[in-house]
Amino acid sequence: TSSPSPASGAAQVLVASNRGPVSYEVGDDGSLRAKRGGGGLVSGLSAIGPDAGALWVCSALSDGDREAVRRGVGEDGVRMLDIPADVHADAYNGIANSVLWFVHHMLYQTPLEPVFDAEFRRQWASYETYNRAFAEALAQEAAEGAAVLVQDYHLCLVPGMLRELRPDLRIGHFSHTPWAPPEYFAMLPDDIQVRLMEGLLGADRVAFLTWRWATAFENCVQGLDPYRWLPLWPSGAPRAVEHVRKDPGTGRERITRKTLIGVHSLGADAEFLHARSHEPDVEERMAALREEIGAGRKAIVRVDRTELSKNIVRGLLAYRQLLDDHPELLEQVVHVAFAYPSRQDLAVYRDYTAEVQRVADEINSQYGTPGWTPVVLHVKDDFARSLAAYRLADVALVNPIRDGMNLVAKEVPVVSDEGCALVLSREAGAFQELGKDAIAVNPYDVIGTATALHEALTMPTEERAERTKRLAAAATALPPAQWFLEQLNALRDQAS
Ligand code: G6P
Repeated sequence: TSSPSPASGAAQVLVASNRGPVSYEVGDDGSLRAKRGGGGLVSGLSAIGPDAGALWVCSALSDGDREAVRRGVGEDGVRMLDIPADVHADAYNGIANSVLWFVHHMLYQTPLEPVFDAEFRRQWASYETYNRAFAEALAQEAAEGAAVLVQDYHLCLVPGMLRELRPDLRIGHFSHTPWAPPEYFAMLPDDIQVRLMEGLLGADRVAFLTWRWATAFENCVQGLDPYRWLPLWPSGAPRAVEHVRKDPGTGRERITRKTLIGVHSLGADAEFLHARSHEPDVEERMAALREEIGAGRKAIVRVDRTELSKNIVRGLLAYRQLLDDHPELLEQVVHVAFAYPSRQDLAVYRDYTAEVQRVADEINSQYGTPGWTPVVLHVKDDFARSLAAYRLADVALVNPIRDGMNLVAKEVPVVSDEGCALVLSREAGAFQELGKDAIAVNPYDVIGTATALHEALTMPTEERAERTKRLAAAATALPPAQWFLEQLNALRDQAS
């Protein structure tokens, strides 16, 4: 299927991602209900407007989604791909979430993992199939010369595959994750490393959330034939990877193409957050939360997917250390931890979820009293309640062991009512922008984190408010709509 197909589609701008902006549920009466998701990408795309010939290509992820595709139900501007469930499971659970996510977040317990065996090769074949399904759909939908923005580690092979099908397109790839350091990336089988790079470098532009991840990517490209990494293009223009071909006769090198490296730090959407966080359902949840916390007590808030990289367990251990070290805080503080279900098809995520619950219970039985629950853990996803917690938090704990950006760190200061001290891992992408006004932690250092929590709790109110203001300004520097347009414009300006 690699013969070029003629430009047949009408879409001028296309986005491709595994998770799309909408999902469907089958109701008891058999009817389909659409649920629109939130997040930066969704609000970013709405910036170009549904009438502007934009199309979002995504996967059907649930039975409801598959049913919607079968019944031909859909939204304008969205095309859902019904990839066979077993192929999708291998690509998403097997390769994307158990291999690529693990590599970029450095999550392997290396004495036993990873093992790249026959099972891995079988899943890899599904990853190829799944990426090809996207490439083919995009090739079909894109108008001549259209811009295609491919998102994330699920779709690393799409740019290369799409370029073969439609050399006329302008193709960008954006990574929302960190990028692995070369030593870690090198754990992948050699041919897989090359395949991933070939896939990504099929793009005109590959972009990241911070220079730290972009540099890691460049370091992984280094030394990989037939590419050459240029720290800076002549005259201070963006960094680039040159595609070099050697003439077999003369041995002379020829540069066939360049892939530019971009950095766009996704910011929080202040306008949306301000409005949404003052709606009645949020006010209701604030009242309920205040009750759970108890009058006069301070709240240390965290909100995460129950994600291995988010470091929720060490956060709980640091909180316990804080109580151990500061008996004056007993009955005076509550750790409000929202840990929402994520990737529960994977045993290691289920185990981690159980461990979070276990440690929270342990702290509550060790320190709790009839009138005080030291850890208030909620595991049911509720965005309104998250916003309620942001508004009343005294301290926000964001301590991932590695994170592409971390939007919670950016949302809290924007939403906070009276100022909130931010304890922030230096391994979060957001640290580049927020580090100056946050309290920095090494995420592995539980005692250091406990000390940081204490510093945050005792920060003078005025200083806290001042810092929150500066954090909010930094956090909203590039809101989603602008983030999206900036990439699109860069891609359009660059390709000829
Ligand atoms: C990260 C990834 C996104 C992903 C999200 C939620 O932010 O970069 O691509 O959508 O996690 O994970 P999920 O597996 O539920 O889509």
